[in-house]
Amino acid sequence: MKKRYLATAAGVAAACLAIGFAGSANAATLKISCGSVGQELNLCKENVNAWAKKTGNQVVVISSPNDASERLAQYQQILSSGGDTIDVFQIDVVWPGTLGDHFIDLKPFSNGVEKDHFPNVVANNTYKGKLVGMPWYIDAGLLYYRKDLLSKYQLNVPNSWDELTAAAKKIQDAERTAGNGKMWGYVWQGRAYEGFTCNALEWVASYNGGAIIDAKGAVTINNPAAAKALQNAAGWIGTITPAGVLNYQEEDARGIFQSGNAVFMRNWPYAWSLLQKDDSTVKNKVGVAPLPKGGDGRSAAALGGWQLAVSKYSKNQKLAADLVMYLTSPAVEKQRAIDASFNPTIMSLYKDPDLLKANPFMGDLYSTFQNTVARPSTVTGERYNQVSNAFWNMAHEILSGKQKASDGVAKLQSDLNRLSRGGHW
Ligand code: GLC
Repeated sequence: MKKRYLATAAGVAAACLAIGFAGSANAATLKISCGSVGQELNLCKENVNAWAKKTGNQVVVISSPNDASERLAQYQQILSSGGDTIDVFQIDVVWPGTLGDHFIDLKPFSNGVEKDHFPNVVANNTYKGKLVGMPWYIDAGLLYYRKDLLSKYQLNVPNSWDELTAAAKKIQDAERTAGNGKMWGYVWQGRAYEGFTCNALEWVASYNGGAIIDAKGAVTINNPAAAKALQNAAGWIGTITPAGVLNYQEEDARGIFQSGNAVFMRNWPYAWSLLQKDDSTVKNKVGVAPLPKGGDGRSAAALGGWQLAVSKYSKNQKLAADLVMYLTSPAVEKQRAIDASFNPTIMSLYKDPDLLKANPFMGDLYSTFQNTVARPSTVTGERYNQVSNAFWNMAHEILSGKQKASDGVAKLQSDLNRLSRGGHW
């Protein structure tokens, strides 16, 4: 008798705990996978907690690898099992074609608000007629520079890669002579992963060397401008860029620049708010500009950015969609821009005075955000990662001196043609 009573009491206690934990009898627990580069994870927790409080539900935030390529592999594994381990996925701008079949259409939940977001991103996130991801923030490659050092050496912000190379070398050498033996001219992301595809694509596109595969599906990488762009970057290794860059991701480059040991850095907007923090060595010493032009080419910034998608295996799709709509709302996008310099996807926010005060570059460089270079993910669909992988490996071999740029682009052209369907992707 006593035993039975105890068992019942334990059962009731457990039930009460579950209710208490969830807030109300109808409450649910959602799981969201968020990025963790820089301040992302903490900010995501803050944002979802606000929604949980407002709606009386619980949200568990699951962190994912910093490396976008590793993250894709993790997501593919989770989604292909068809389980409901994660309800809301934060997906890269290049993944709708790869993962789209696993997500629900968000249009029935959006009330048409996607029209307020950048149309090219909405189009990018539309897969087989379904809106598989609500745009959350956009990224574009930017040039960060040390204002104080440029003015000390009376140099202008570089317009071309040649100007950047010369300025980086001059300042690096002079600063080393003056006592900072750790100073480097230019840091960026050169590890063999998706981030390197973005860097190398920017160089190639800046020399008018195209975007690997054109919008109609023809492989274009084997051209002299592309080879020149890659050969030029190879010349930076060991001269203005540390050899270790061949293993750098975003946070490695930021670490060096933020500790005062680089003149220039290529990175995404998120770096801005961290560089401006009180504990940053370079606070108030940094400017942001468009990436330099290649020869008589143009400034080319890779289009990056992240979307929120709801798994079709989720048992709480409606609620998960509500969370997505909340996180991509103007108020939350604005707060994320102010607190952590994530570029909003809602166009009207670029006129918001608070946002522009915290991030002057978002207004100054608005055209950079509008004229980005897209990776060829729409045309290659689910096989984009295979293309990107072949591209970053080829570029990595050139930069590490294992192959000549002209040979690398020619070989990639034939490899990609072989993988295509009769010369077309
Ligand atoms: C940023 C971009 C994303 C890109 C990644 C590469 O997170 O937003 O689009 O794939 O960097 O590292």
